[in-house]
Amino acid sequence: MMPAVDDRSLLQEIHAEIQPLVGQGRLPASIPPLAAVPRDRFAMVLRRVDGREAAVGHAAEPLSIQSISKILILTLAMQLEGDGIWTRVYREPSGNPYNSLVQLEREEGIPRNPFINAGAITLTDLILSRLDDPAGAVRDLARRSAGNQSLDFDLEVAAAEAATGHRNRALAHFLKAFGNLHNDVDRVLDAYFRICSLSMSCQDLAAAFAFLASGGQSADGTSEMATRRQVKRINAVMLTCGVYDSAGDFAYRVGLPGKSGVGGGIVAVMPGRFTVAVWSPGLDETGNSLAGTMALELLTTKLGVSVF
Ligand code: DON
Repeated sequence: MMPAVDDRSLLQEIHAEIQPLVGQGRLPASIPPLAAVPRDRFAMVLRRVDGREAAVGHAAEPLSIQSISKILILTLAMQLEGDGIWTRVYREPSGNPYNSLVQLEREEGIPRNPFINAGAITLTDLILSRLDDPAGAVRDLARRSAGNQSLDFDLEVAAAEAATGHRNRALAHFLKAFGNLHNDVDRVLDAYFRICSLSMSCQDLAAAFAFLASGGQSADGTSEMATRRQVKRINAVMLTCGVYDSAGDFAYRVGLPGKSGVGGGIVAVMPGRFTVAVWSPGLDETGNSLAGTMALELLTTKLGVSVF
């Protein structure tokens, strides 16, 4: 589809305004290949529900989607298990960092929501109980929803995280100790790390999560990714839990359901209207893209739209 001319000038204006923030913030030291990504990267893709797309910056360059993959994990878990997933995870904001251990101890092994690490590890375990290759199934879901059969894991990133992911190991063993992880810890974590390592461009992300704006249809209109009811629920959990302990600030500033990853990507959704993907590797204190969040705030401010 041709780019929407007005949307493109809007994105160019935003790109110019956020320039002072690009390069600021920290890179995730816990995953060495991500700490080596050039700080000057920035991309933003706005995809309307009618398929018109506008882009600025490094829009076709792949980034490590990291926790954005938690939307795919939740979608697949809902497809497989429906409302049964809610016996394994809650759906309340955590008010804690994404990799925190303390709440899981206090709440006896039931993660606060599917978008913190403990919740996504639990749902990966749930998927592994149903499918032999949960990571492959999530990758296939990403390929189908984005309409891009070449999407894949970055196995160097997955291996780096497997070597350094001690907090995730601790979370998984904690879950196991509480009886909320049914499979072998190493198999679950291997799948989880591979899923986090999925490599997608902002163009891929905007297409892959078009279904959250369209009521469930994939970007190419050929498959139903989720029912309308499931879409409402995924968006609700994104709004309340998608950016961890910044969920309140993000809702206040951006006003859209959003999901971030430590690779510096963020996907946000205006149901019925558009999906937007943004990327800038520098992160704020809570692990969310600094320039990316500001770009989204500018977008909703300039468009005068939000879910509120
Ligand atoms: O499990 C982890 O810690 C990383 N693979 C993903 C964390 C993440 O992306 C948090 N996002 N802002």
